[in-house]
Amino acid sequence: MCGYEKNTIFASEITIRVFINKERKRIMKSLDYLNLDANKVADVVKGLSRLLADFQVYYANLRGFHWNIKGDGFFTLHAKFEELYNDAANKVDEIAERILQLDGTPEHRYSKYLSVSTVKETDVIHSGHKAVAHILDTLKEIIRQERALIQTASEANDEVTVALLDDYLKGQEKTVWMLVAFNSDRA
Ligand SMILES: [Fe+2]
Repeated sequence: MCGYEKNTIFASEITIRVFINKERKRIMKSLDYLNLDANKVADVVKGLSRLLADFQVYYANLRGFHWNIKGDGFFTLHAKFEELYNDAANKVDEIAERILQLDGTPEHRYSKYLSVSTVKETDVIHSGHKAVAHILDTLKEIIRQERALIQTASEANDEVTVALLDDYLKGQEKTVWMLVAFNSDRA
């Protein structure tokens, strides 16, 4: 084999490898298989990313309430806050994995969460009623975001995200009812 033939074979191998890599990159996108519009889905991913940030801050606040609660209702609220932070942790994972299913990249850095979240970190709170009032304010904001995101996801024909958020709302509306009932003697 002469040098020219060797070079030609080498060059065509490179061409094939580049082609295969391009094919792999193309095949590795989930959205190619989901029959969803990438531009419309980008708005859903944006909304989910913000919701993820808010749930992460909410989760950290709930842990603080669970640890620092004192006085009346300690045993009830200590357990209730644990139930709520476990629920928030599950939702964090579900939201992040939904972002991945839509070809987004979920953020994991708290510094980034804090720069975009509407929910803010709380100071140490010992009063059960103050903690419950704070949770109600947080749920109000999260529910507002979820309702807006359901609209965005509906416009993108993304019924999986709609169903996920519908499910969240169902649980949150029940939680709101119970927390309002708990705090009503302080109103
Ligand atoms: Fe604990």
